[in-house]
Amino acid sequence: MKVFAVFGDPVKHSLSPMMHNAAMLELGFNGVYHAFQVKSSDLRDAIYGAKAMGFGGVNLTVPHKEKALEFIRPDPLAAKIGAVNTIDFREGITGYNTDGIGALRTLLDSGIDIRNASVLIVGAGGAARAISFQLASEGAHITIANRTQERALKLAEEVNEVGRAKGAGLEDLKNLIKEADILINTTTVGMYPAVDDTIATADMMHPDLTVFDIVYNPLETKLLKEAKKAGSNAINGVMMLVYQGAEAFEIWTDIRPPVNIMKQAVLEGLG
Ligand code: ATR
Repeated sequence: MKVFAVFGDPVKHSLSPMMHNAAMLELGFNGVYHAFQVKSSDLRDAIYGAKAMGFGGVNLTVPHKEKALEFIRPDPLAAKIGAVNTIDFREGITGYNTDGIGALRTLLDSGIDIRNASVLIVGAGGAARAISFQLASEGAHITIANRTQERALKLAEEVNEVGRAKGAGLEDLKNLIKEADILINTTTVGMYPAVDDTIATADMMHPDLTVFDIVYNPLETKLLKEAKKAGSNAINGVMMLVYQGAEAFEIWTDIRPPVNIMKQAVLEGLG
């Protein structure tokens, strides 16, 4: 039996075990996926220990995604993003970041044409990094808007190496949204328990806009409610979570997992 894991701190609310165990059960795959609470100071030992014990693969979550780069060899995309959420042990210890592909697949599911689309990403943290590198390399025109403008400018400069990106603050968000085809919220604004917060309201949106909130708790954030009011296309964060997991599963096993089963497990986990 293959053992898979997620390392985080805290980790007890992680939906990854339910999602991956449901996929393995459906496939008849002989494996088990468990969440381990690992302190930052123990991360190196935990990763090397998992390798030594023949684990099939490991996911990393908060706060380990950046620190892991000190111990593992990242693939080129994870190196650019500066964060790893998936570790494979088959040849050495290789780190991947599947968050961006999770976002990309979610948007593709909606029938959205990414190439040359105007994508406004709000936030400049880890999630914004993964998504902006991924979508820029697919040919999207990225604008990164962040409360701390300097972080947005710096990230945009890095993303420019793989595609087209510019940075901005939040003061002019209304006009930036006017020019956008897709608005992506990567900030924690609107996340439980502060569910009445939003980065934008309906009057700032338009019917041709797709609003993608990577938050999945609550499933319908205030931002998505506002998007519906404006007649915009509203997408929540569930499928990004599912697809980042599905991509990791495929990296480890070369098997495409059943995403609908994984989605069901996530929705059950969210209650
Ligand atoms: P993650 O790795 O999950 O993306 P992070 O690195 O902590 O998280 O980044 C959080 C992002 O949310 C940042 O872009 C942050 O803006 P700052 O760089 O200015 O801190 C943004 N953010 C958090 N709270 C916010 C708020 N109330 N309004 C606007 N942006 C906010």
